[in-house]
Amino acid sequence: MKRIKVHLDKRLSETHEICIGYDFQDRIGLLIAKEHPANRYVIVTDSNVSGLYGKTFLEKLRELGLPAELLEFPAGEGSKTMDTVLALTSRLLERGVDRHSLLLALGGGVVGDLTGFVASIYMRSVPFIQIPTTLMAQVDSSIGGKTAVNLPQGKNLLGTFYQPKRIFTDLKFLETLSDDEYLNGVAEIVKYGVIDEPGFFELLEREVPAIRERNLEVLKKVIEQSCRIKKGVVEIDEQESGFRRILNYGHTIGHALEASSNFTLAHGKAVALGMIAASGISVQSGYLSLEERDRIENMIRDLGLPVRIPESFPQSNVLERLQMDKKKEGSELPFVLLKKIGIPFITKGVEKSHLEKVLEEMKA
Ligand SMILES: NC(=O)c1ccc[n+]([C@@H]2O[C@H](COP(=O)([O-])OP(=O)(O)OC[C@H]3O[C@@H](n4cnc5c(N)ncnc54)[C@H](O)[C@@H]3O)[C@@H](O)[C@H]2O)c1
Ligand SMILES: [Zn+2]
Repeated sequence: MKRIKVHLDKRLSETHEICIGYDFQDRIGLLIAKEHPANRYVIVTDSNVSGLYGKTFLEKLRELGLPAELLEFPAGEGSKTMDTVLALTSRLLERGVDRHSLLLALGGGVVGDLTGFVASIYMRSVPFIQIPTTLMAQVDSSIGGKTAVNLPQGKNLLGTFYQPKRIFTDLKFLETLSDDEYLNGVAEIVKYGVIDEPGFFELLEREVPAIRERNLEVLKKVIEQSCRIKKGVVEIDEQESGFRRILNYGHTIGHALEASSNFTLAHGKAVALGMIAASGISVQSGYLSLEERDRIENMIRDLGLPVRIPESFPQSNVLERLQMDKKKEGSELPFVLLKKIGIPFITKGVEKSHLEKVLEEMKA
C-alpha cells in the first residue's frame, strides 16, 4: 500500500492521506476499525456498486465487530440532486446517525460528490471517507474536497469544500469498470500529463498500449502520479481562487460540448476534445508549437478517445454554451492554455476568431 499525504493548512481542513493498493479491502476495513473510531459506520453507495462491492464490504466491517450499515441510491448522474440528499439524510436520522458516526462513500464521482455534500451539512458536518471505485473518482473527484449536487439550471451548482478523513484507492475495483467509464478516467490522466511535468507526459506516451490493456503495474504508477499531481495543486489552492483552475485544462470547451450534446457525450470524451481545442488555441495564440499540439492529439487518439467533434454539433451552440459557463468573470471566461507541454497558464479570455477557427478545424 502506497501512502500519499495531503497537507492542507486552511482553518477547516486537516492533513489526510490517500492510500493506494490492489485488492486490499480487508486491510481497509482494519484501518477503518483501528484509526477511525465511530459509533456507526454508514456505507453510502449506488445501486450498481452496492451489488458489486457494497454488500461484501459491509460484511467485512461487520466481521470486525463494527456497527455498520449500507444506504444505496439509484446509480447515475440523475441522482446527484437535492432529492437524493434529503432522502439520504432522513435515512441517516432514522438510523440514529450523529456527529460521532462516519460515512463511507463507496463508488464513483457521483457517490463521492453526494456523500461528501451530505457529510458537510448533516448536523453541521460529520466525518467521511472516500473509497473511489471508478478511475475518474480515483484520480480526480475523490481528491480535493469539492462536493456538489446538480440543480435543474446546471451541474454542481450547490456544493461545499469539505475534505474526507482519508481516501482508500483499491485498483481491484477497476476490473469491473466498462470501457467507456475507464476512458473517462483516462482523459483526466491525460490532463495531468499535459499540465504537469513533461516526464509524466512522456511516460503516458510510452505506455499507451499498457494503459489500453489496463496493465496493473502501469496503472499503479499512473494513478499514483495523477493523485500526486492533483493533491499538489489542491495543496496550493484548496478553494480554487487561482492556481487550482489549471485543472480546468480542456474543461471549458469540454463542458460546452457536453452541454450541447445534452450530456449524451461522455465527460471524458468531451474533455479529450476540449484539450485538443485548448491546445489548438494555444498554437493560434502563438504559444504552443504545432509539434507539441500534435503529440497531445496523437496520444488522445491512440488511447481510444475522440479527436474530432461530431458533425451533429452546431458550432454556434458550443459558442453560446461558452458564454453561459459558470466560471465566467464578467464578460471574460478564464481559459487554460499551454506554453509547452507541462507549462499551462490561465488567461482571461481568448479571441473568438481563434475559437471559431479551432472548432471548425476539429469538425469530423
Ligand atoms: N468533486 C470533484 O472534484 C469532481 C471532479 C471530477 C468529477 N466530479 C463528478 O464526478 C461525477 C462523475 O464520476 P464518475 O465518472 O465516477 O461517475 P459515476 O459515479 O456515475 O460512475 C459511473 C458508472 O460506473 C458505475 N461504477 C462505479 N464503480 C464501478 C466499478 N468499480 N465497476 C463497475 N461499475 C462501476 C456507477 O454505478 C456508474 O454507473 C460527476 O458528477 C462529476 O461532476 C467531481
Ligand atoms: Zn473532468
